[in-house]
Amino acid sequence: MSQFASNRRDILRAGGATLFLAFAGGKLRAADAAGRPLPEGDAYAPWTLWNDPSIRNTPLALVAAGVIAANPHDTQPWLFAVGDDTIEIYADASRNLGAMDACLRELHLGLGCAIENMLTAAGANGYAAQLETAPGSLIDLTERNQPVLAARLRLKRIAAAAPDPRAAAIPLRHTNRYAYDPARAPTAEWRDFARALGADGEVKVLLFDAGSPQRRLFDAAVVEATEAIIADKPMIADSDRWFRDSAREIDVHRDGPTLDAAGLSTFTLIFAHLFSVSAETSHKAWLDQTRDVQLPTAPVAGLIAVRDRYDRPGAIAAGRAWQRLHLDATLRGMALQPLNQPIEMIDRERQTGAGATWARRIAGLTGDDWQATFSFRAGFSSTTASPSPRRRLRDVVRS
Ligand SMILES: Cc1cc2nc3c(=O)[nH]c(=O)nc-3n(C[C@H](O)[C@H](O)[C@H](O)COP(=O)(O)O)c2cc1C
Repeated sequence: MSQFASNRRDILRAGGATLFLAFAGGKLRAADAAGRPLPEGDAYAPWTLWNDPSIRNTPLALVAAGVIAANPHDTQPWLFAVGDDTIEIYADASRNLGAMDACLRELHLGLGCAIENMLTAAGANGYAAQLETAPGSLIDLTERNQPVLAARLRLKRIAAAAPDPRAAAIPLRHTNRYAYDPARAPTAEWRDFARALGADGEVKVLLFDAGSPQRRLFDAAVVEATEAIIADKPMIADSDRWFRDSAREIDVHRDGPTLDAAGLSTFTLIFAHLFSVSAETSHKAWLDQTRDVQLPTAPVAGLIAVRDRYDRPGAIAAGRAWQRLHLDATLRGMALQPLNQPIEMIDRERQTGAGATWARRIAGLTGDDWQATFSFRAGFSSTTASPSPRRRLRDVVRS
């Protein structure tokens, strides 16, 4: 690296701190070693609550673990009815993603992620937990404004409950949208773990290595689906409405994708915090980042498939598989990111009656016996991902 480049980076770092004082209204925000400002504020408090002594060994501890699970666009589309020995999990259909999730499929995947965190936290809190899911098809689910029961956990106190080692990863797991190291492939052991998630026959995990013909099809599908979403005005508007650009919006809403979690470089992040960018600029940045950084640096990409992507229990099972994969990967020091654009296009085509081009294209990767419901990339990143905001327990627990 030239002296100039190194000096420039130092200047940017120093400048970053100064600029941050400015945009944060005189309040110095903590930064990581690269000068990247760290998210802060009460909206991030739920990341430590799940293991707080005040709720430990109570059903609320399981709910607190559930709310820090992955979920689509950080919409947190859940409500919980908490009893002494049951927790009911409701789909909060009013928090749906509109044309971005036409069938509430991703919403149910998010519920599956929350349920997996709750099951993972059960042993550490002295419970054995049994899951019951509501049967039926997402196609018949027309409710868009009310809570709909999706699953129930039956809890039993047991003296010698065995803690799941993956519970340690619950507060550490974050979606990592940064570049991955293309030369550092996930181990054979991790691949075995990923594929074994389908051992019960309910889900199937498919992995595609960089450079393989199937991986080329996967990457092209993700890039073209990103372009298609940007060109689809209702879809991109329904996505954009959840973005929280300012600290104030994050404090108020405690949800949605944020700049801090977007995987931006330090300079771009500080710039984006200071100057509002147009929707066109941010859409182009999303496409560029997907095509030029996220896909080409990922040593492995993959799909989670089910027998019927519109089966409600199947969607919950796939969400559970994603959360488990991500918790496990976190313990291995890995980075994971969903890249669900092609599957979102399958639902959108179905909703608009535009045919099944995307469904057929993705079936080329799974075969006709399985239907992909989640797509992702996996690897190792030198940059640690930031947490996303979460709502308070009182916002999501039904009285
Ligand atoms: C069903 C589902 C779909 C998702 N799709 C994407 C996606 O296409 N691209 C992406 O970057 N993140 C995606 N995510 C990740 C969420 O945006 C993320 O989980 C949420 O913002 C909360 O952040 P966290 O995972 O870091 O806690 C998805 C998550 C779920 C559960």
